Order: sequence, then C-alpha cells, then structure tokens
Amino acid sequence: MSTHSINSTDDSPQPLVLAIESSCDETAVAIARGTEHILCSEVSSQIELHKPHGGVVPEVASRNHNLTLPPLIKVALKSAGLEIGQIDAVAATAGPGLASSLLIGNTTGKALALALQRPFYSINHMEGHLLSPFIGDPEGIRPCVALIVSGGHTMLVHLRSVGDYTLLGRTRDDAAGEAFDKVGKMLGLPYPGGPEIDHLAVSGNAKAFDFPRSMIGSGDFAFSFSGLKTSVRYLLPKLDGPLENHLADICASFQKAVTDVLVKKTLKAAAQCNEKLITISGGVSCNRGLRLAFQEACEQSGHQLQLAEGELCTDNAAMIAYTAAAKLAIGVPPSVLDEDIDPNLSLTS
Ligand code: KG4
Ligand code: ZN
Repeated sequence: MSTHSINSTDDSPQPLVLAIESSCDETAVAIARGTEHILCSEVSSQIELHKPHGGVVPEVASRNHNLTLPPLIKVALKSAGLEIGQIDAVAATAGPGLASSLLIGNTTGKALALALQRPFYSINHMEGHLLSPFIGDPEGIRPCVALIVSGGHTMLVHLRSVGDYTLLGRTRDDAAGEAFDKVGKMLGLPYPGGPEIDHLAVSGNAKAFDFPRSMIGSGDFAFSFSGLKTSVRYLLPKLDGPLENHLADICASFQKAVTDVLVKKTLKAAAQCNEKLITISGGVSCNRGLRLAFQEACEQSGHQLQLAEGELCTDNAAMIAYTAAAKLAIGVPPSVLDEDIDPNLSLTS
C-alpha cells in the first residue's frame, strides 16, 4: 500500500489517528490528534448481552462487533467533527483477546487504511492499557513500574520508554479481574462481578474473613489468585445464616486480600527498579478500594502514583489511538497489512 504523508501542517500539527478496539466485549472507536488530544472516545458495551450467560460468549461478541462497528465509526467522526478523508492513520487492536472479536476490528481497520491509502498500526491491547495512565499528561510517557490489572491479565512491567518494556512478573493462574468475576458469580452477583464487589465492599468489614494473600512473600513478582477464589468457595457452605447477611463482608475481605498482594509486590518492584513513578491500568484499576490502598501506600513510601482516568481503565479505543500516536511520534513504521491478529500476543516478545 502507498503511504500517506502524515507530516505536520501549520494549522494541524499532529496526525489524526482513528483507532478501533474489539478484543473482547466492548466495541470501541476513538480519534486522537497526536498524543495530545483525544477528540472522541466511543464505547459500545455488550455487557447486557452477555449478562444472561454469566460471561462473554465469543460468537455473540463477534456478531455484535460486526453490527456495531460501522455505525460507531460514523458516530466517532461526527463527534470529532471530522470527515473520514481527514484521518491520517488507522490503528486497531491485534491481540491479545478473543480471535473472532479481534478479527472484526482489525480487519475493518485494515480495510479502512487500504481504502483511504493511509498507514495502519496493529496495536497490542496490553500496550494500550500500559500507556493509558499517560493520556492527557502534558509530561508524556515516562519511566515507571506499571501494574496492569484487567479481566485477562495481571502483570508488572518496567516501562523505560515507548516500546522498551520488561515483564517483571505476571499471574500464574487467574487474572485479578477474572478472580473478581468468578467470586462474583459464586456470590450470585450479576456479571461482571468486579464492579459489584467494589460496590458491596464499601459497606463491608475487610477484616471479617481472613482470606489468603497468595505468594505475597514469594520474593518474585508472580501472582496467583486461584487459591483465594477457592477459599471463598470453601467458606460459603460454612457461613452462619444466609449469604446475604455476609455479602458485604466477604466482598470487602476478598477485595482487601487481592489489593494487599498487588500493593506489596508493586511497591517492591518499584524499589527494585529504582523508579519513583508507579502507574496502574486495566479494568480492576477502577476499583475504589485498590485506588485508595495504592494512594495511601505511595504516600507513605514516597512514590508518585498515576492511575488511568475512570473510563480509560476498562477497554476503550482511546488507549489504542494514543499508543499508535506515540509510535508515530517516534517514527515507528506502520504495520504490514498481512500481519495477522494474535489472540496470545505478548507485550514483551
Ligand atoms: O480491562 P478490562 O475492561 O478488560 C480486559 O482487558 O480484560 O477489564 C475488565 C475487568 C473485569 O474482570 C471487571 O470485573 C473488572 O475489570 N473491573 C473491576 C471493576 N471494574 C471493572 N474489578 C474490580 N472493581 C471494579 N470497580
Ligand atoms: Zn483490556
């Protein structure tokens, strides 16, 4: 494909990047003007469609991406006040995620780029999460230790600059968000369990149940949340009286157990990497207990904490547009159009 020039003009110094995210159950389109401005960020959630099934059904997700994406691109352009011909580059998530969902957004992005004769950027969804705490930050992307806590991943990363990432550790079994969702299901809460547990935990006693802090002293940066999930399962038949009477306490105690491990290991990683800045991103970073615990811990330890903004914690296309714009800004060449999606795409290999 021929490359479209994305060099500066006087009145529009930054390239306009249209990005598509469809790795799981959110269809999202965003437009960024360079790394400085997110002009629009549209997210169409499928949560209500998947709720009756207690989790994401891949076929339902991909069919819905297919239906939602073309009108959502029009909505995004309208809300940014742009015509499609003004777009300078197109980006789409290439992985990790559900293959059938990734294919819809990634192929649509490539088709758009081809039709418009613009460069195309295949973006790693985890890199999007990783860089999302810097969106809107005039100081830009800086070295940090980054905790990414989502429904599919829990990892600690040493970020030195765009594209220079070292994986410090990851979960050996369930991701933190997965543990929230599975425990939510056990407790009879609607899908996804994360926000429900967050809500109930506010009125609960976090010391009511002593759940395990798995691997908290393991000496490395690996995580494990499946034992914690199992201990909630074992507790349920032993409860005194109806579950409803204990819900808030179980939620608060479970949330505290997850948070304690995340805080301890993240601070240790920051000390080991000699980084002052800690960032947190991914859906679980919406959690109010987690945000508060990190704020308190960082105040005590003297670390600077930077969290992704509320609506940028969960899946969105603004983080994909921002990541593509950050790559454009340092001259990373576009992706080739025959590069496939990869449901297991790694952040660091
Ligand atoms: O980043 P995300 O939108 O999608 C993935 O890439 O996985 O994260 C979704 C996850 C779900 O597991 C959801 O339950 C969790 O983030 N989540 C929360 C909260 N909001 C979303 N977990 C705990 N507390 C919340 N407030
Ligand atoms: Zn995500």
